[in-house]
Amino acid sequence: MKKILLATTAMAAIAAFALAGCSSDSGRGEAGGDSSAAAGFPADSTIGVALPDKTSENWVLAGQLFEDGLAEAGFKGDVQYAGASNPVADQQQQISAMVTSGAKVIIIGATDGKQLGTQAADAKESGATVIAYDRLIENTADVDYYVAFDNFKVGQLQGQALLDGLAAAYPDKSSYNIELFSGAATDANAPVFFNGAMDVLQPKIDDGTLKVVSGQTDIKQTATEKWAPENATKRMDALMTSNYSDTEIDGVLSPNDTLGRAIIDSIADNGQTDHTPIVTGQDSEAASIPYIMQGKQYSTIYKDTRALVKEAIAMATSLQKGEEPTVNDTESYNNGVKVVPADLLTPVIVTKDNAAEAYAENPDLLALVQKG
Ligand code: BGC
Repeated sequence: MKKILLATTAMAAIAAFALAGCSSDSGRGEAGGDSSAAAGFPADSTIGVALPDKTSENWVLAGQLFEDGLAEAGFKGDVQYAGASNPVADQQQQISAMVTSGAKVIIIGATDGKQLGTQAADAKESGATVIAYDRLIENTADVDYYVAFDNFKVGQLQGQALLDGLAAAYPDKSSYNIELFSGAATDANAPVFFNGAMDVLQPKIDDGTLKVVSGQTDIKQTATEKWAPENATKRMDALMTSNYSDTEIDGVLSPNDTLGRAIIDSIADNGQTDHTPIVTGQDSEAASIPYIMQGKQYSTIYKDTRALVKEAIAMATSLQKGEEPTVNDTESYNNGVKVVPADLLTPVIVTKDNAAEAYAENPDLLALVQKG
């Protein structure tokens, strides 16, 4: 009775307080804030995995890894991708169907993390645990855990790689012409990557070492809708025409490999072929490894999708046993309503120099490095 009355107040703080108050009689754990953890659930339960549209290779890899990994762990996996033409509505429907089918854990790589409040609430209401995978789900109390690579660190590594690459390639220059790109505004990761990079780059912009020739330094100006390479090409083409007809571009902050390749190709297509720009990336995509080995792209980031999927499945397994999943960060990921307990993995910066070492445990990528 007390619980029902309190729930109807719809105030997150009071609800959380009530749950904590209940914990001694219900035997619930405290660390992760998930109310269903201690209960556990049958070992062959359905685990839903809702992935966004395939905007980069990591998402393509994740689907099969989830299928295989969930089956191996004894679960019934229900793995769905949002279609590219209507991804937000698609994903909302897929999550609702997972709730209806009785999934015990729903792992979500959000297309738009701000538009899943209703589905997350329905999932919680049904007793499922909601795990945000790679991208945070925002503005809702109904997300229990977050599993991702440390996104701010990714941005910092990208910013530092841009500085290092410029200094190494053009040691005689005292200032560099650069441009900045960021990801889709709908992706909670995009500002975190950008802010991490600017944490490193802003002091160098302020002291004149870096010159953003277009003046476009605001994330609204640098954003790339849908993470689509054609949108990066379009913007880079326009930047080249307006700003680089009589000067060279030395470097570009690119938030991932898909956009990095589009940017590199645009610069060459716009006639700059004898001055190699330093371009960053992320994801260690197969198509970018040759760019890196041939000196066209300076850096990428290795975020081993196998490890991230494994971590998400480990969370589901803990929940199945009625145990609290492991988290290592309870401060960084405030989604606007709550700080979501996170399990963060460490990203690795990769350049031509350390590629063989970085991919030593990944035969597919190592083979591409060896191919050159
Ligand atoms: C992921 C990146 C990816 C991007 C586009 C982000 O949320 O963290 O790895 O490049 O989405 O798919």
